Amino acid sequence: MRIKSFEQYVQDLLDHPPFQELHQHAGHHFKRSRFAHSYAVGKLSYRLARIFHANVTVAARAGLLHDWYYDRHPHFKRVTNPDMHHFRQSVETAGQYGESPEVLHAIRTHMWPWGRIIPRTREAWIVWVADNIIWVVDLWQSLKQSLRLGVHYLIYGT
Ligand SMILES: [Fe+2]
Ligand SMILES: [Fe+2]
Repeated sequence: MRIKSFEQYVQDLLDHPPFQELHQHAGHHFKRSRFAHSYAVGKLSYRLARIFHANVTVAARAGLLHDWYYDRHPHFKRVTNPDMHHFRQSVETAGQYGESPEVLHAIRTHMWPWGRIIPRTREAWIVWVADNIIWVVDLWQSLKQSLRLGVHYLIYGT
């Protein structure tokens, strides 16, 4: 049996112009685009789902879509109301696209304990773990990039 690649589970999303707009959203975790971050979380979720015998479709799609928002909703009170963070917007956007309740649950809980609803499926835990690993990697990559630019500036003055 041929193993399907990550891209085969999410190709419709990768080709979806509104989703591609996430390329324009730079500065996610400092210096990454939101697309690059989402792609990495989706791919890691896909791999973890294979290892832990979870639903690969749900994990891959939820991982890719967990940060599908553009600008923060002005009435969302991120700090004072833990239920009104960006995951609410991602759930809304993915729901409008027609994603399953399992995918929406994994998106909704990806910032637990922020948001208060605990992940209750294997796929939701996988997305939670993948997101937490990838944002640390993002920060590390961003830091390295900044250091490189800083050293370049010190040597060449540009
Ligand atoms: Fe997020
Ligand atoms: Fe994220």
